[in-house]
Amino acid sequence: MILAKNLHKYYESLHVLKGVDLHIKKGEIVSIVGASGAGKTTLLQILGTLDLPNKQQNTVLEINGSSVLNLKDTALSKFRNQHLGFIFQFHQLLPEFTALENVCIPGFIANRNKKEVETEAKRLLTYLGLAERVDHKPSELSGGEQQRVAVARALINKPAVIFADEPSGNLDTQSAEMLHQLFFKLREEFNQTFVIVTHNEDLANMADRKLVMKDGLILE
Ligand SMILES: Nc1ncnc2c1ncn2[C@@H]1O[C@H](COP(=O)(O)OP(=O)(O)OP(=O)(O)O)[C@@H](O)[C@H]1O
Ligand SMILES: [Mg+2]
Repeated sequence: MILAKNLHKYYESLHVLKGVDLHIKKGEIVSIVGASGAGKTTLLQILGTLDLPNKQQNTVLEINGSSVLNLKDTALSKFRNQHLGFIFQFHQLLPEFTALENVCIPGFIANRNKKEVETEAKRLLTYLGLAERVDHKPSELSGGEQQRVAVARALINKPAVIFADEPSGNLDTQSAEMLHQLFFKLREEFNQTFVIVTHNEDLANMADRKLVMKDGLILE
């Protein structure tokens, strides 16, 4: 599902990724842990095609069978919209839109049928326990509710892979636990692949595989 070879990233003279190799299978839930500044977010952004590695000979990044480093802007945006979902620590919902609208937007960008997207968005929000909150704006929702809206938004186009960076970093213990259980429930239902960066020990240990980042490399 994800195959990465020899990923390097420099920020000027700072060598953040020093040749990361990674293979993640379909339906796998992988957690990435490591000290602050180890390069976890940098790696996730590159795996999620939101940032580019400094290309070396034999650098490879294949996601869902596509060699994404060769895709140009428009094709890459399309690929991301159709195959990848993102959940961040701060939900990044659009404040002027309702929960339902926020969830629908990636579906509209994908040029899907409006009614079909809305029906699916309502189904997802209901599944996530938000049936009564669909017409509220983010500012009228609790932190945990906002994060569940962000999860629904990440799922609307049925992505093959979900990338999450500190998804529960901003939640109380109970909301965090609910969100973690949700990831496993979603994997069961949709066989999605999850790559989750987290400082949460419980979540990291629940994963099928826990990768530890240190000094720009992964120690498995
Ligand atoms: N855009 C940037 N420009 C310059 N340096 C950066 C940039 N982004 C990150 N860095 C540096 O790269 C290193 C790795 O950062 P990264 O955000 O990947 O760490 P992290 O493992 O996610 O840490 P945390 O657990 O604190 O989120 C850090 O030293 C950081 O200061
Ligand atoms: Mg980070």
